[in-house]
Amino acid sequence: MGYRLFGIEMQSPFIIGSGPLSYGAPGLIRLHQAGAGAVVTKTINLEAAENAVNHMASCGMNTLINCEKWSDYGPERWIANEIPQAKAAGVVVIASIGVSLCAWPELVTRMIEAGADMIELVSYDETELKTMAETLRPYCTVPMIAKLSANYRDMLEVAGACRKAGCAGFTACDSIGPVMKIDIETGRPVLGGKEGKGWLSGAMIKPIILQKIVELRQKFDCPIIGLGGITTWQDAIEFTMAGADALGICTAPILMGVETIGKLNRGIERYLDDHGYGGLDTIRGMALSHLPEQEATGSFHMGFQKESCIGCGRCVTVCAYGVRTLDEDGNMAVDEAACRSCGLCVSVCPKNCITVNRGLVSC
Ligand SMILES: Cc1cc2nc3c(=O)[nH]c(=O)nc-3n(C[C@H](O)[C@H](O)[C@H](O)COP(=O)(O)O)c2cc1C
Repeated sequence: MGYRLFGIEMQSPFIIGSGPLSYGAPGLIRLHQAGAGAVVTKTINLEAAENAVNHMASCGMNTLINCEKWSDYGPERWIANEIPQAKAAGVVVIASIGVSLCAWPELVTRMIEAGADMIELVSYDETELKTMAETLRPYCTVPMIAKLSANYRDMLEVAGACRKAGCAGFTACDSIGPVMKIDIETGRPVLGGKEGKGWLSGAMIKPIILQKIVELRQKFDCPIIGLGGITTWQDAIEFTMAGADALGICTAPILMGVETIGKLNRGIERYLDDHGYGGLDTIRGMALSHLPEQEATGSFHMGFQKESCIGCGRCVTVCAYGVRTLDEDGNMAVDEAACRSCGLCVSVCPKNCITVNRGLVSC
């Protein structure tokens, strides 16, 4: 299947977000060989970064916290070695640019001459991104992408200002924070950076980012790279249905290996085949056609497929109203008059024995 972003051909819809795996040319090439459609470099600033000891930690459930700074290579090294080497190996390179490069914008032109296919602007400070776009636009002859943050007070306002300033599209979003993890044996923050705080990425942030993509898609028709929390192919399908044009991943290949890229690719292709969809384009933005939707109301009827039930009792455990019972023979009973139709039992059933039809639960 062919994929394109801003007209640039990619071997897959997966774009590796700026992070430790894209530290330099060998990392970029490894990600490309593992199936990435494009790779965003570690964020490049005027000065090379020096990181604290302990700047990444697992936070359970395919989630990370980190206080990693920008690239520990300076811009000259990226221009002379890392970008040209990656380009020679066929990588689609997106150069991530930090705010300090605005003081020397000619470096961005040189990165493009070195082979960068796109430029991504990033800042945690929402007042900086628009200024960065305005400053760098005259030097940027390739698509310029604004990397947005769910931490912004008004992300849509920043997005609109960046579009006006010449950004061709968005990456949504950066990691979320600040956040904290404490070692309960020592009482010390696990991360070694300033104030011990970090930024959250991976599975835990997915629902927040998915909603941000819906909001962006409802307002803008430019390309959106959906990034934040994709760790399974099902997540990638959800992001596409929310309106993402390309699928960003950073934490998933860090925690699960670069082979994850191939697994995600195969997963979405199988899903598309099984459902008879011609490609991701067919399902892109599908969720938006259901928004805004009237609140689902209606009478409740219990539906239960006894033959699929494995008797795990999850549906009984989570019933806040205690109206569901399962006997030893696997017979389910519900006090329908007392049931509030919350739907939680439907979503925790591992075998889809209980199905819901928005306000009407039925077999
Ligand atoms: C260890 C680590 C370092 C990161 N460094 C950068 C960076 O230098 N520049 C940047 O724009 N984003 C950086 N990010 C954020 C990711 O590009 C991405 O936006 C975020 O992790 C959400 O995606 P994910 O849930 O797939 O990881 C970093 C993330 C991690 C986990």
